[in-house]
Amino acid sequence: MERTLVLLKPDCIQRRLAGRVLSRFEDKGFNIVALKMMRISPALAQQHYAEHVAKPWYPTLEKFITGGPTVAGIVEGLEAIRVVREMLGATSGLIAAAGTIRGDFSSSRQMNLVHASDGPEAAQREIALYFKSEEIIAYEPTITPWLRAGDES
Ligand code: CDP
Ligand code: MG
Repeated sequence: MERTLVLLKPDCIQRRLAGRVLSRFEDKGFNIVALKMMRISPALAQQHYAEHVAKPWYPTLEKFITGGPTVAGIVEGLEAIRVVREMLGATSGLIAAAGTIRGDFSSSRQMNLVHASDGPEAAQREIALYFKSEEIIAYEPTITPWLRAGDES
């Protein structure tokens, strides 16, 4: 079982797409084990996007990501880190395949609606950036026996 950090970025909230994006993860069978609305500060943006801080486009990314409310969540499930990234699609909404979240809803390289951790180390680091352990609520959904065979976990 894996956990991955998901951010519904300010464009997602402003465009009233939060429910539809979260529904994609629910429909897939994933568990949402943490969820909160927040405003990302410039300091948090710099930590979150540490690998990009020196890039020429970082200042506009920081302005965007701190420019409105964000919903942060943790999505849990089998191979959740890879599968959620694939559900998002390529970074630019203009390149992301139809059927992916970015491919269906975004026509921008920056305003691509959703962030998800890109690997196990990133997931661990990013979950710790956004959530205290007491904010993460582990539970076993009653529907689990109808989502996958017992020997698949
Ligand atoms: O989010 P993802 O891992 O797919 O892409 P990234 O290359 O790690 O870039 C992080 C975020 O920066 C993207 O999701 C875009 O919102 C933004 N970005 C941008 O504003 N301009 C670029 N040329 C590339 C990325
Ligand atoms: Mg990335």
